[in-house]
Amino acid sequence: MNKVTIIGSINVDNILHVKNLPQPGETIAMSNFSKAAGGKGANQAVAGARADSKIIFIGRVGDDENGSYMLNQFKENGIDTTYVSVTPNQNTGQAYILLQESGQNSIIIQHGANFDLTPADVRKAENEIRTSNFVVAQFETPIPATIEAFRIARQAGIPTILNPAPAREDIPQELLELTDLITPNETESESITGIAVTDEESMRKSADYFHDLGVRGVIITLGKTGSYVSTSKLQEIVPAFTVKAVDTTAAGDTFIGALASELNRDLSNLKESVIYASKSSSFTVQSLGAFPSIPRRSTVEKALKEDELNG
Ligand code: RIB
Repeated sequence: MNKVTIIGSINVDNILHVKNLPQPGETIAMSNFSKAAGGKGANQAVAGARADSKIIFIGRVGDDENGSYMLNQFKENGIDTTYVSVTPNQNTGQAYILLQESGQNSIIIQHGANFDLTPADVRKAENEIRTSNFVVAQFETPIPATIEAFRIARQAGIPTILNPAPAREDIPQELLELTDLITPNETESESITGIAVTDEESMRKSADYFHDLGVRGVIITLGKTGSYVSTSKLQEIVPAFTVKAVDTTAAGDTFIGALASELNRDLSNLKESVIYASKSSSFTVQSLGAFPSIPRRSTVEKALKEDELNG
């Protein structure tokens, strides 16, 4: 069982179910409205916990009903909330998700308390970071807090995983240099490297950009195609599992949480871990909402065994 410390966002997702996205100037009706627990960091934490990892979470909620709701959701999933602080007079992060019938989504974030996270919050969890198998972060919380966590991890020899989502261009070089494994999608990769991901050659060049900064492992996620995996020993596309998508929300987050739970510190089982992570996210896309759709280890392992038996 891995111990994983996650620095990240906590959101309540407000889901607007629509046939298609509205055009500029158009008014449309939603067919349904639902809410679910979410946030990139929180989803990754739940994916890790359901993959049987011990998860320590560093984050912030507001002193509102959503904050209490999310803390309860964390506890129900067995996530350690010692380092989740409450910001007074602040709202908990929220996401407004336009979910199309195709299963694709468009997301607008209200950061709320997520953006109150500081390096001092991170330092309180220093001992946990130093005894983790991995430290994981994304971009829905402030970068200075992530850099602090990655510095502590690097000093202690603990590998770091950066999920550079949502995409941004102003990433400090120091953060990339403190990253051991990076997991951008095609858009995120291009916004960092300036290289459009169009074919295997461009994937290799993009991966080399990161390797040149000292990043040991690169996984460029390619949606339905799978993911391009690159280390000093391995460069290949690991195909995705084909399923019918109902809601792609948290598919990428499930991949990260499951990966961090499965992976060895030296990344020696990267390909096997990517297959496990990819199978996990294939479950997430098949039902609605972030937390509710993230699978447990038993479900994923059973499905992988069935695949093996069926050749
Ligand atoms: O990655 C999916 C998540 O992004 C959603 O749960 C939403 O909260 C946004 O943070």
